[in-house]
Amino acid sequence: MAILESPSACIAAEEGVIAKAILMPGDPLRAKFVAEHYLENPVCFNTVRNMLGYTGIYKGRKLSVMGHGMGVPSAGLYAHELYNFYGVDTIIRIGSAGGIGEDVKVRDVVLAMGASTNSHFADQYRFPGQLCATADYGLLKDAAAAAERLGIRADVGQVFTSDQFYNDNPEANATYRKFGILAVEMETAGIYWTAQRFGKRALSILTISDHIFTGEALSAQERQDSFHEMMEIALETAWN
Ligand code: ADE
Repeated sequence: MAILESPSACIAAEEGVIAKAILMPGDPLRAKFVAEHYLENPVCFNTVRNMLGYTGIYKGRKLSVMGHGMGVPSAGLYAHELYNFYGVDTIIRIGSAGGIGEDVKVRDVVLAMGASTNSHFADQYRFPGQLCATADYGLLKDAAAAAERLGIRADVGQVFTSDQFYNDNPEANATYRKFGILAVEMETAGIYWTAQRFGKRALSILTISDHIFTGEALSAQERQDSFHEMMEIALETAWN
Protein backbone atom coordinates (compact mmCIF):
# COMPACT_ATOMS: atom_id res chain seq x y z
CA MET A 1 0.00 0.00 0.00
CA ALA A 2 1.35 3.44 -0.91
CA ILE A 3 2.22 5.76 1.94
CA LEU A 4 0.67 9.20 1.41
CA GLU A 5 3.59 11.64 1.42
CA SER A 6 1.56 14.77 1.25
CA PRO A 7 -0.40 15.67 4.39
CA SER A 8 -3.11 16.77 1.99
CA ALA A 9 -5.74 14.11 1.34
CA CYS A 10 -7.72 15.67 -1.49
CA ILE A 11 -5.37 18.04 -3.33
CA ALA A 12 -2.25 16.78 -5.05
CA ALA A 13 -0.37 19.94 -6.00
CA GLU A 14 3.33 20.57 -5.90
CA GLU A 15 4.65 22.94 -3.28
CA GLY A 16 4.53 26.61 -4.23
CA VAL A 17 2.23 26.10 -7.18
CA ILE A 18 -0.91 27.50 -5.59
CA ALA A 19 -1.07 31.29 -5.21
CA LYS A 20 -1.71 32.96 -1.87
CA ALA A 21 -5.11 34.09 -3.14
CA ILE A 22 -7.56 31.65 -4.70
CA LEU A 23 -11.00 32.08 -6.24
CA MET A 24 -13.37 29.17 -5.61
CA PRO A 25 -16.55 28.40 -7.52
CA GLY A 26 -18.51 25.30 -6.50
CA ASP A 27 -18.25 23.69 -9.92
CA PRO A 28 -14.75 22.55 -11.04
CA LEU A 29 -15.68 23.17 -14.68
CA ARG A 30 -16.41 26.77 -13.70
CA ALA A 31 -12.88 26.90 -12.30
CA LYS A 32 -11.58 25.71 -15.68
CA PHE A 33 -13.69 28.35 -17.44
CA VAL A 34 -12.35 31.10 -15.16
CA ALA A 35 -8.76 29.95 -15.68
CA GLU A 36 -9.15 29.86 -19.46
CA HIS A 37 -10.98 33.17 -19.77
CA TYR A 38 -9.48 35.39 -17.08
CA LEU A 39 -5.94 34.15 -16.34
CA GLU A 40 -2.81 34.28 -18.47
CA ASN A 41 -0.88 31.02 -18.90
CA PRO A 42 -3.06 28.89 -16.61
CA VAL A 43 -1.53 25.65 -15.38
CA CYS A 44 -3.66 22.87 -13.89
CA PHE A 45 -2.40 21.88 -10.42
CA ASN A 46 -5.07 19.43 -9.31
CA THR A 47 -7.20 16.73 -10.90
CA VAL A 48 -7.90 14.58 -7.83
CA ARG A 49 -11.65 13.77 -7.85
CA ASN A 50 -11.86 16.06 -10.88
CA MET A 51 -11.77 19.03 -8.51
CA LEU A 52 -9.86 21.04 -11.08
CA GLY A 53 -7.48 23.73 -9.85
CA TYR A 54 -5.38 26.19 -11.89
CA THR A 55 -2.79 28.87 -11.30
CA GLY A 56 -2.18 31.69 -13.75
CA ILE A 57 -1.50 35.39 -13.88
CA TYR A 58 -3.98 38.22 -13.45
CA LYS A 59 -2.67 41.77 -14.05
CA GLY A 60 0.90 40.60 -13.45
CA ARG A 61 0.17 38.70 -10.23
CA LYS A 62 -0.14 34.99 -9.51
CA LEU A 63 -3.72 33.91 -8.84
CA SER A 64 -5.33 30.49 -8.45
CA VAL A 65 -8.83 29.17 -9.02
CA MET A 66 -10.25 25.82 -7.95
CA GLY A 67 -13.66 24.22 -7.42
CA HIS A 68 -14.84 23.53 -3.86
CA GLY A 69 -17.80 21.24 -4.56
CA MET A 70 -21.24 21.40 -2.98
CA GLY A 71 -22.03 21.87 0.66
CA VAL A 72 -20.13 22.76 3.81
CA PRO A 73 -18.26 19.42 4.24
CA SER A 74 -16.74 19.71 0.77
CA ALA A 75 -15.97 23.43 0.87
CA GLY A 76 -14.65 23.20 4.44
CA LEU A 77 -12.35 20.34 3.50
CA TYR A 78 -10.75 22.15 0.56
CA ALA A 79 -10.42 25.38 2.55
CA HIS A 80 -8.67 23.43 5.34
CA GLU A 81 -6.14 21.89 2.98
CA LEU A 82 -5.46 25.10 1.05
CA TYR A 83 -4.92 27.16 4.22
CA ASN A 84 -2.89 24.55 6.08
CA PHE A 85 -0.89 22.67 3.46
CA TYR A 86 -0.52 25.07 0.52
CA GLY A 87 0.16 28.48 2.06
CA VAL A 88 -3.10 30.03 0.87
CA ASP A 89 -4.13 33.07 2.90
CA THR A 90 -7.15 34.34 0.96
CA ILE A 91 -10.15 32.39 -0.35
CA ILE A 92 -12.82 34.18 -2.35
CA ARG A 93 -15.85 32.01 -3.03
CA ILE A 94 -17.64 32.90 -6.26
CA GLY A 95 -21.01 31.24 -6.29
CA SER A 96 -24.71 31.42 -6.78
CA ALA A 97 -27.46 31.85 -4.21
CA GLY A 98 -31.22 31.90 -3.93
CA GLY A 99 -32.68 35.32 -3.13
CA ILE A 100 -34.54 35.72 0.17
CA GLY A 101 -34.58 39.49 0.82
CA GLU A 102 -37.44 41.59 -0.51
CA ASP A 103 -35.08 44.05 -2.15
CA VAL A 104 -32.80 41.37 -3.56
CA LYS A 105 -33.38 40.70 -7.25
CA VAL A 106 -32.10 37.95 -9.54
CA ARG A 107 -28.79 39.04 -11.08
CA ASP A 108 -27.84 41.06 -8.01
CA VAL A 109 -24.47 40.45 -6.47
CA VAL A 110 -24.39 39.80 -2.72
CA LEU A 111 -21.26 40.26 -0.60
CA ALA A 112 -21.72 37.95 2.39
CA MET A 113 -20.78 39.87 5.53
CA GLY A 114 -21.74 36.88 7.68
CA ALA A 115 -23.42 33.51 7.37
CA SER A 116 -26.08 32.11 9.69
CA THR A 117 -26.47 28.38 9.22
CA ASN A 118 -27.99 25.06 10.23
CA SER A 119 -24.62 23.36 9.67
CA HIS A 120 -22.98 21.60 12.63
CA PHE A 121 -19.50 21.83 11.09
CA ALA A 122 -18.29 24.14 13.90
CA ASP A 123 -19.19 21.63 16.65
CA GLN A 124 -15.62 20.31 16.25
CA TYR A 125 -14.27 23.52 17.79
CA ARG A 126 -16.18 23.12 21.06
CA PHE A 127 -16.56 26.89 21.05
CA PRO A 128 -18.36 27.88 24.24
CA GLY A 129 -21.35 29.55 22.56
CA GLN A 130 -22.40 30.01 18.95
CA LEU A 131 -19.54 30.91 16.67
CA CYS A 132 -20.45 33.69 14.27
CA ALA A 133 -19.23 32.96 10.71
CA THR A 134 -17.95 36.28 9.36
CA ALA A 135 -16.13 37.56 6.30
CA ASP A 136 -12.73 39.19 6.46
CA TYR A 137 -13.42 42.91 6.77
CA GLY A 138 -10.56 43.96 4.47
CA LEU A 139 -11.82 41.72 1.66
CA LEU A 140 -15.39 42.83 2.21
CA LYS A 141 -14.37 46.49 2.09
CA ASP A 142 -12.26 45.97 -1.04
CA ALA A 143 -15.07 44.06 -2.78
CA ALA A 144 -17.64 46.75 -1.95
CA ALA A 145 -15.25 49.43 -3.25
CA ALA A 146 -14.54 47.42 -6.42
CA ALA A 147 -18.27 46.98 -7.10
CA GLU A 148 -18.82 50.72 -6.70
CA ARG A 149 -15.88 51.56 -8.96
CA LEU A 150 -17.16 49.14 -11.60
CA GLY A 151 -20.73 50.44 -11.36
CA ILE A 152 -22.09 47.05 -10.28
CA ARG A 153 -24.92 46.94 -7.75
CA ALA A 154 -23.83 44.81 -4.78
CA ASP A 155 -25.85 44.19 -1.62
CA VAL A 156 -23.82 43.67 1.55
CA GLY A 157 -25.32 41.60 4.35
CA GLN A 158 -26.03 38.27 5.88
CA VAL A 159 -26.63 35.01 4.02
CA PHE A 160 -27.90 31.66 5.25
CA THR A 161 -25.74 28.57 4.63
CA SER A 162 -28.08 25.60 4.44
CA ASP A 163 -27.38 21.88 4.57
CA GLN A 164 -30.51 21.36 2.49
CA PHE A 165 -31.13 22.44 -1.07
CA TYR A 166 -34.61 20.85 -0.91
CA ASN A 167 -36.03 22.04 2.38
CA ASP A 168 -39.17 20.34 3.68
CA ASN A 169 -39.94 23.24 6.02
CA PRO A 170 -41.54 26.04 3.97
CA GLU A 171 -41.67 28.39 6.98
CA ALA A 172 -37.90 28.50 7.25
CA ASN A 173 -37.52 30.97 4.40
CA ALA A 174 -39.99 33.46 5.91
CA THR A 175 -38.05 33.36 9.17
CA TYR A 176 -34.76 33.94 7.36
CA ARG A 177 -36.32 36.95 5.63
CA LYS A 178 -37.63 38.31 8.95
CA PHE A 179 -34.06 38.36 10.24
CA GLY A 180 -32.66 40.23 7.26
CA ILE A 181 -31.04 37.30 5.50
CA LEU A 182 -30.41 38.33 1.88
CA ALA A 183 -29.88 34.94 0.27
CA VAL A 184 -29.49 31.22 0.88
CA GLU A 185 -26.59 29.09 -0.35
CA MET A 186 -24.68 26.05 0.90
CA GLU A 187 -20.98 26.70 1.63
CA THR A 188 -20.08 30.11 3.06
CA ALA A 189 -20.27 29.31 6.79
CA GLY A 190 -17.87 26.36 6.39
CA ILE A 191 -15.31 28.48 4.56
CA TYR A 192 -15.62 31.42 6.97
CA TRP A 193 -15.25 29.23 10.07
CA THR A 194 -12.22 27.50 8.60
CA ALA A 195 -10.63 30.87 7.82
CA GLN A 196 -11.34 32.10 11.35
CA ARG A 197 -9.93 28.92 12.91
CA PHE A 198 -6.62 29.28 11.08
CA GLY A 199 -6.29 33.08 11.13
CA LYS A 200 -6.85 33.41 7.36
CA ARG A 201 -9.09 35.51 5.12
CA ALA A 202 -12.28 34.60 3.30
CA LEU A 203 -15.13 36.27 1.45
CA SER A 204 -18.13 34.96 -0.50
CA ILE A 205 -19.28 36.90 -3.53
CA LEU A 206 -22.60 35.54 -4.74
CA THR A 207 -24.84 36.02 -7.74
CA ILE A 208 -28.58 35.66 -7.16
CA SER A 209 -29.52 32.95 -9.66
CA ASP A 210 -33.10 32.40 -8.49
CA HIS A 211 -35.51 33.97 -6.02
CA ILE A 212 -37.04 31.76 -3.37
CA PHE A 213 -40.21 33.87 -2.98
CA THR A 214 -40.90 35.03 -6.52
CA GLY A 215 -39.65 31.88 -8.31
CA GLU A 216 -37.84 34.14 -10.78
CA ALA A 217 -34.67 32.59 -12.24
CA LEU A 218 -31.88 33.78 -14.53
CA SER A 219 -31.85 32.80 -18.18
CA ALA A 220 -28.67 31.30 -19.60
CA GLN A 221 -27.62 34.68 -21.06
CA GLU A 222 -28.33 36.54 -17.80
CA ARG A 223 -26.33 33.93 -15.89
CA GLN A 224 -23.40 34.59 -18.17
CA ASP A 225 -23.61 38.40 -17.79
CA SER A 226 -24.01 38.35 -14.03
CA PHE A 227 -21.22 35.79 -13.70
CA HIS A 228 -18.94 38.22 -15.51
CA GLU A 229 -19.88 41.03 -13.06
CA MET A 230 -19.20 38.83 -10.04
CA MET A 231 -15.87 37.82 -11.57
CA GLU A 232 -14.79 41.40 -12.12
CA ILE A 233 -15.42 42.17 -8.45
CA ALA A 234 -13.65 38.98 -7.33
CA LEU A 235 -10.59 39.58 -9.52
CA GLU A 236 -10.21 43.18 -8.39
CA THR A 237 -10.59 42.12 -4.73
CA ALA A 238 -8.03 39.31 -5.03
CA TRP A 239 -5.62 41.63 -6.77
CA ASN A 240 -5.70 44.28 -4.01
N1 ADE B 1 -27.78 28.27 -4.82
C1 ADE B 1 -28.49 28.85 -5.81
N2 ADE B 1 -29.79 28.82 -5.56
C2 ADE B 1 -29.92 28.19 -4.35
C3 ADE B 1 -31.01 27.84 -3.57
N3 ADE B 1 -32.24 28.15 -3.98
N4 ADE B 1 -30.79 27.20 -2.40
C4 ADE B 1 -29.53 26.90 -2.03
N5 ADE B 1 -28.45 27.20 -2.72
C5 ADE B 1 -28.64 27.84 -3.89
